[in-house]
Amino acid sequence: MIIAGHETVAHTISYALLFLAMYPEHQITLQKAIERIFGNRPPSKWKYPEDFLPFEEAIALFNETLRLVPPVQSISKKVLTDLPGPVTLTASDGQVFTLPPGTLISLDSCGAHRHPKYWGPASQEFNPRRWFLKTRSTGTTKQPEPGEEDLEHISGKKSVGTAAAESINFTTENLYKPPKGTFLPFSEGDRSCLGRKFALVEFAAIMAVMFQNFGLEFDLNAVGKNGETWIDESEVNRLGKQEAMKRAYARKTKDADRVFKDSVWVLTTQMKEEMSYRWVKKGNELWRPWTKDPNTA
Ligand code: HEM
Repeated sequence: MIIAGHETVAHTISYALLFLAMYPEHQITLQKAIERIFGNRPPSKWKYPEDFLPFEEAIALFNETLRLVPPVQSISKKVLTDLPGPVTLTASDGQVFTLPPGTLISLDSCGAHRHPKYWGPASQEFNPRRWFLKTRSTGTTKQPEPGEEDLEHISGKKSVGTAAAESINFTTENLYKPPKGTFLPFSEGDRSCLGRKFALVEFAAIMAVMFQNFGLEFDLNAVGKNGETWIDESEVNRLGKQEAMKRAYARKTKDADRVFKDSVWVLTTQMKEEMSYRWVKKGNELWRPWTKDPNTA
């Protein structure tokens, strides 16, 4: 239970922070949503569901982080050993699989989550906007038709057939609901994760607390694993401080992408190197002068 409920959420937060430092335009989106919903009210005055349910940006961030880096990458299943005969499965493309009793199966969530057929040519990119129907530009899969599948909406009522996302189980009318089998961070079926809604609410609350007054940036003064430094003094003299910082930040972001891609699976997915960040007062982030708000661009 400790691994199920703690490690998985900690993992998701640590990758979401990495992505928000790498792609600060999405941090602006998050900060604006927090301003809109929570204003300056302290966390002690926040209310569920009034404040939580409209926080769609947190749901999109959560889903997008889980899509790219599901903590549980290989979901193990086994055909019961005491069945009288094999089980037959028909895949969505019509292929039929015959599974004898005792067969071990491993669901490849990473493969499903990054497949261009479902997530479009930019399937490898971090883009929480893909979860908003109005800004969704990637992916070839249309929203499943009403009636195709059941989804328990946030209202708690069974919706009339909107989509898929048994594995999301928590969504709104404005958000994309991926077809069944294409988004499995919590697995699907009777033994799927019991804590998914708890995990999302915990994630959203932590994001709101952290980003209400602060912004996150890479610490450009921290020396890299192999002694790399990021700020080039000659660039500062030649190009001015802002342009030099922009270039230094881009170098650090590239290095962070290397660390991200070098992640390993140790119980859950993990980065092998430490990341150095700085929390600064919101509005004073290093990346602020050159980063556009994607919603007003
Ligand atoms: C981002 C966070 C989380 C992720 C990605 C996640 C993912 C998963 C996955 C993949 C499974 C296996 C399902 C299967 O075998 O079909 C699982 C099971 C489970 N999870 Fe989570 N989990 C998360 C958070 C939590 C939290 C916060 C709790 C509890 C508070 C929790 C409680 C459980 C339990 C009890 C099971 C076993 C369900 C069963 O065997 O019937 N999980 N989770």
